[in-house]
Amino acid sequence: MIKKCLFPVAGYGTRFLPATKSMPKEMLPIVNKPLVQYGVEEAIEAGLTEIGLVTGRGKRAIADHFDVSYELEHQIAGTSKEEFLSSIREVMSKATFSMTRQQEMRGLGDAILNGRRLIGDEPFGVVLSDDLCLNTEGGDGVLAQMVQLYKQFRCSIVAIQEVPEDQISKFGVIAGEKLKDGIFQVTNMVEKPAVEEAPSNLAIIGRYILTPDIFEIIENTPPGKNGELQLTDALLTQAKNGCVLGYKFKGTRFDCGSVDGFVEATNYVYNNIYKM
Ligand code: UTP
Repeated sequence: MIKKCLFPVAGYGTRFLPATKSMPKEMLPIVNKPLVQYGVEEAIEAGLTEIGLVTGRGKRAIADHFDVSYELEHQIAGTSKEEFLSSIREVMSKATFSMTRQQEMRGLGDAILNGRRLIGDEPFGVVLSDDLCLNTEGGDGVLAQMVQLYKQFRCSIVAIQEVPEDQISKFGVIAGEKLKDGIFQVTNMVEKPAVEEAPSNLAIIGRYILTPDIFEIIENTPPGKNGELQLTDALLTQAKNGCVLGYKFKGTRFDCGSVDGFVEATNYVYNNIYKM
């Protein structure tokens, strides 16, 4: 029912400089696979096989990653090295890729708005691939869990997790009424609040299901925190006019846009996935 998934990958990744000076942060590898490929695999698992990349300057490596590399593939054809390409070949056979450019980094809301022409008038997923989500408890990935929830409620959904006080100012934070275990109807949302202004300790992470009315709402949303067009502000309007759910997902999220989270994810994947 939901077929499309948007990947805003235009950000500068300043927290990872100098590594990200000429390389997109979404191409940083967790062991032997770039972050963005983990995100695309999660989307495919959820049945979202039409991938839309919102890219920017210096991000061509991402588009190339999901395309055939003739010279390389010709060179290793018939050798044992070919198996190293099996995961990316599987991704390429299951998904289609479209691209659009965000010309100025005006925030996540603006990046999503740029993706409008790739989405049209249907509900869609959003993955911020620097948040690596792994289902460390077994079972479905986070997006697949959210798609199931969408089938029941048919409204926008944000993935949330509880975070400690000293982390709260790094996230969008929700307040909500509990509908069921782990499911909240959002009543308030604040982008990167100071601890004393945070409405709860429930932080939004980089997985969303959005209904297409979000585009018009973003268009009518003024720039917010840091002068950027904030998706959080548009989602608050959507929550007030209708319904937005916060969903406490099953699994673990690693903040791979930060060095600490990146190292933690690398250790986890090496020990629990790569070496298994
Ligand atoms: P971040 O807040 O992580 O920003 O963006 P960033 O620029 O990528 O990284 P830092 O903070 O400078 O280290 C969250 C997501 O939104 C995308 C980013 O690519 C990332 O996936 N984004 C952000 C855009 O695509 N465009 C924007 O204008 C802003």
